[in-house]
Amino acid sequence: MVSNNNGEKRPKITLSAAITLDGQIASLTGDNNLSNTEDWRRVHHLRAENEAIMVGSGTILTDDSKLTIKPEYFESGHLIKNPVRIVVTSSGMIPLDSRIITFRPDIPTIIATTKKCSSIKKKEFLRKGCEVLLCGEGPLVNLRHLMMILYKDYKINSLLLEGGSKLNGNMIAEKLIDEIQVSIAPVLGGNGVPFFSLPYAMNSLDQSPFFEILNHKIYGDMIWLNLKIHYKPRSIK
Ligand SMILES: NC(=O)c1ccc[n+]([C@@H]2O[C@H](COP(=O)([O-])OP(=O)(O)OC[C@H]3O[C@@H](n4cnc5c(N)ncnc54)[C@H](OP(=O)(O)O)[C@@H]3O)[C@@H](O)[C@H]2O)c1
Repeated sequence: MVSNNNGEKRPKITLSAAITLDGQIASLTGDNNLSNTEDWRRVHHLRAENEAIMVGSGTILTDDSKLTIKPEYFESGHLIKNPVRIVVTSSGMIPLDSRIITFRPDIPTIIATTKKCSSIKKKEFLRKGCEVLLCGEGPLVNLRHLMMILYKDYKINSLLLEGGSKLNGNMIAEKLIDEIQVSIAPVLGGNGVPFFSLPYAMNSLDQSPFFEILNHKIYGDMIWLNLKIHYKPRSIK
C-alpha cells in the first residue's frame, strides 16, 4: 500500500513491460514477441507477487491476454495465487468472448468503466461473472478513483500494470506508478507502439520524472532494469 501526500491510500503499483532498444512495446502491426523464456519466468513470478494485474482495453483487443500465471514457471507443489484481473475500458467495448473473461472464470475479473458503457453491456459482463466498477463520467476511466476503490473495497495492496501504451502514459501522468520492471530486447521496433503515450506534450526534460536504478540483471539476450520513479526532475551530477 502507498499513502499519497493528501492521505489517499492506494495499492503499490509496478509497471511491467518488455521493450525494444528504441523504446517500443510492440511493432506497428502489434508484434510484441519480445521476451525470452528466462524473462517470461521472471514476469510470471512478478505476477504471483502482486494481488492484482491491470491492462487497458487496447491490449485486450490486440493480444487477447489471459493474464494468468503459468504453473510451468514454478517448482511443482508451489502454491500459486492468480492476481485479480482488471481491464480499463471507458466504453466497455471489449468482446464478451475475450479470454480474460472466458479463461479461468474462477479468477476474479473487474471491468473498470464509466457511464459511457451501456447498461446492456454492463449486464452482460455481470452475467459472465465479471465485476463492473464505475469510475467517472468519461471520456476516460478516473484512474485515481479506481486505485482508491481497489485499495478500500477490494483490499488490494499491490498491483502490476501490464500496459499498453495509453494506459502506461495516463498512469504515469497521474503519478500512479511507483516502480518499473522493464526488460530490453536487442531489436528495434521502428515506428511502433511507444512505451508511454503521454496525454500531453513535454517541452523539456525537466517535465519528466526521473528513474532511479534499484537493480539490473541479464536474462539471456535481454537486460532487465528495476526502476524507482521520482516525480521530480533529474539532477545530473
Ligand atoms: N511489450 C509489452 O510488454 C506490452 C505489454 C502490454 C501491451 N503491449 C502492447 O500495447 C499495445 C496496446 O496499447 P494501447 O495504447 O493501444 O492500449 P491500452 O493502453 O492497452 O488501452 C488503452 C485503452 O484503455 C481505455 N482507457 C480507459 N480509461 C483510460 C485511461 N484513463 N487511460 C488510458 N486508457 C484508458 C481506452 O479505451 P476505451 O475506449 O475502451 O475506453 C483506451 O483506448 C498492443 O500492441 C500490445 O501488444 C505490449
